[in-house]
Amino acid sequence: MIFRLFYTSRCLIVDEHEARAEAELIASRAGIKNQSVNITGAMTFDGNDFAQILEGKKADVQQLFKIIRNDPRHTQVTVIKQTHALKRHYEGWGMRALNSSNYDELVRVMGV
Ligand SMILES: Cc1cc2nc3c(=O)[nH]c(=O)nc-3n(C[C@H](O)[C@H](O)[C@H](O)COP(=O)(O)O)c2cc1C
Repeated sequence: MIFRLFYTSRCLIVDEHEARAEAELIASRAGIKNQSVNITGAMTFDGNDFAQILEGKKADVQQLFKIIRNDPRHTQVTVIKQTHALKRHYEGWGMRALNSSNYDELVRVMGV
């Protein structure tokens, strides 16, 4: 079984241009790092809020999420849903960066 966690958070970088650049950096670094720990997922950033799905072995996801939730670049980290699934939705994606207009896709994948 695959464990899947969905959360949202508020970005603490005030300047929107800077925030968007940072969000891109976070997603591309995450893409590489997550592959090495067998985590897949997707995220969106709309200029203010992050939304992210992390999938993998439960212990792996929880360990990574502990690091992420303490990241000083965001606050109000709110778990929306945690669930188990038979297979990964984002197979092959360490961290898929989606346009914020695709937020609904994350919601659909999570069955929220
Ligand atoms: C919204 C958000 C999502 C993040 N997602 C990931 C992620 O999926 N994988 C990851 O390794 N780091 C992620 N990070 C970064 C981690 O919080 C942390 O900075 C990073 O893992 C540290 O890596 P480093 O020691 O190589 O700098 C995220 C940060 C934020 C603010």
